[in-house]
Amino acid sequence: MNTDPFDTGPTGKFRTLCQKYPDDTVYRGADGFRSLWGPIFYRGRANGSARLLVIGQDPAQTEAFTRRILSGQAGRRVQGFVEKLGYTRSYLMINAFVYGIFNQNMAMPHLNDPEIQAYRHQWLEAAFAKGKIEAVVTFGNAAFNAWTAFKATPAGQAVTAFHQKALHPTADKPGGPITRKDLLDNWNVALNKLRPHIQNPDVSKPLVPYGNDFTAAELPAIPSRDFPMGLQPWMRNTDFWAGMSDPPGTERANISIVVP
Ligand code: URA
Repeated sequence: MNTDPFDTGPTGKFRTLCQKYPDDTVYRGADGFRSLWGPIFYRGRANGSARLLVIGQDPAQTEAFTRRILSGQAGRRVQGFVEKLGYTRSYLMINAFVYGIFNQNMAMPHLNDPEIQAYRHQWLEAAFAKGKIEAVVTFGNAAFNAWTAFKATPAGQAVTAFHQKALHPTADKPGGPITRKDLLDNWNVALNKLRPHIQNPDVSKPLVPYGNDFTAAELPAIPSRDFPMGLQPWMRNTDFWAGMSDPPGTERANISIVVP
């Protein structure tokens, strides 16, 4: 028998926010968003017990299936990062956008559209309501800009948790200006800044910095407790099983799955 723990779902204000959310009349951006796949809200503890808040950018193809954010390649990289700080469960991850982006240039200008921003601020207010979050890490520019906008609000100004920005987990695009080493150097700086602010980790362990590349141990499986019931192990311990699909012209709607 399989007895893997699973996420029993958001509670309290988090649950209300999953009940009532912006639809595609709010997430306009023409064809910039993959609104057909619906919003994907969070990963981790949407129940007030989180100590670390992670902010990413937007859910990708993998996340459209798992229904939890940061669960593909970017998610496993981030999982390794939070585990280096000693958090194996007490984190909440949200994205700047609840819908996946199909076209960056079309979607990004909507980051602070009033209704998109107001909804995101409700998530952030819920995250800080119990006063347990001790640190915040934003991955990438969209997350950083979303955080900056929140910090300018009265609720944001009241937050004292330490914030650190870091490069986005897939900033090291092939042929791009940021190498894998650049990404990991940046993450090492971020880890060192965050570390003194971590007061209640799930496990206490020395901080081991990244080397020149991710090791297998630095790309852990996503814990089953972060996923809905019944999700299979291959969905949380392998990458790249979900991608864009053919035929050309329908990629925004279609996602292709290949079971590894
Ligand atoms: N998946 C997410 O959910 N967020 C990111 O920022 C990247 C991939």
